[in-house]
Amino acid sequence: MHVFGELVKLRAMGPSDAEALWRWNHDPVVMRWMHENYAQPLERTRAWLEERPRNEYGNVLFGIETLAGQTLIGLIVLRDAEPELGCAKMDIYIGEKDHWGKGYGTDAVRTVCRYGFDKMRLHKISLTVVAANERAQRAYEKVGFVVEGRLRSCFRRDGEWFDELTMGLLEGELR
Ligand SMILES: CC(C)(COP(=O)(O)OP(=O)(O)OC[C@H]1O[C@@H](n2cnc3c(N)ncnc32)[C@H](O)[C@@H]1OP(=O)(O)O)[C@@H](O)C(=O)NCCC(=O)NCCS
Repeated sequence: MHVFGELVKLRAMGPSDAEALWRWNHDPVVMRWMHENYAQPLERTRAWLEERPRNEYGNVLFGIETLAGQTLIGLIVLRDAEPELGCAKMDIYIGEKDHWGKGYGTDAVRTVCRYGFDKMRLHKISLTVVAANERAQRAYEKVGFVVEGRLRSCFRRDGEWFDELTMGLLEGELR
């Protein structure tokens, strides 16, 4: 089932998305503030999409498509949901850099959080973000996330250490 925002549609991902995913994961500009995996061939990315377990309560992966152009531009994940606590974690990235700064990220975050609270009956959604990644923080703050903590010096890029922030959004705080 597709989930619609104002600017984006969230939809399931499959093997035909492998090329885009592989390209984003090997783009140093896209991956600048994200934890990188080791390099892998396109076939491994395709196999991962083929073999990953189906979407379920504890592990939901959506591709982000623009509503206007119906182009796949990124992905968003709700993971580690716990039914007893109603807590889950969120990750997002927009791999098509020419689509940054146009509101797609904010809309995708808002849409997946609405899905988490309304459909999955979550109570809280959390994430971590590198403190220097101001664009991402701004997108999260716009939908209502607040900073809850600072993890000192735990992300390394180009020989420099950065802090990470933990952010959280409670049911009822979504804007
Ligand atoms: C982070 C990301 C998801 C945000 O999505 P996006 O579509 O680019 O963001 P939006 O256009 O919805 O909103 C960005 C906001 O940040 C602001 N912004 C942009 N650059 C900024 C900067 N350097 N400092 C502060 N704010 C900035 C924009 O002005 C906008 O706010 P506004 O609407 O109040 O003007 C996307 O840029 C991305 O995937 N980046 C690379 C990977 C990444 O960092 N992922 C997150 C890891 S935690």
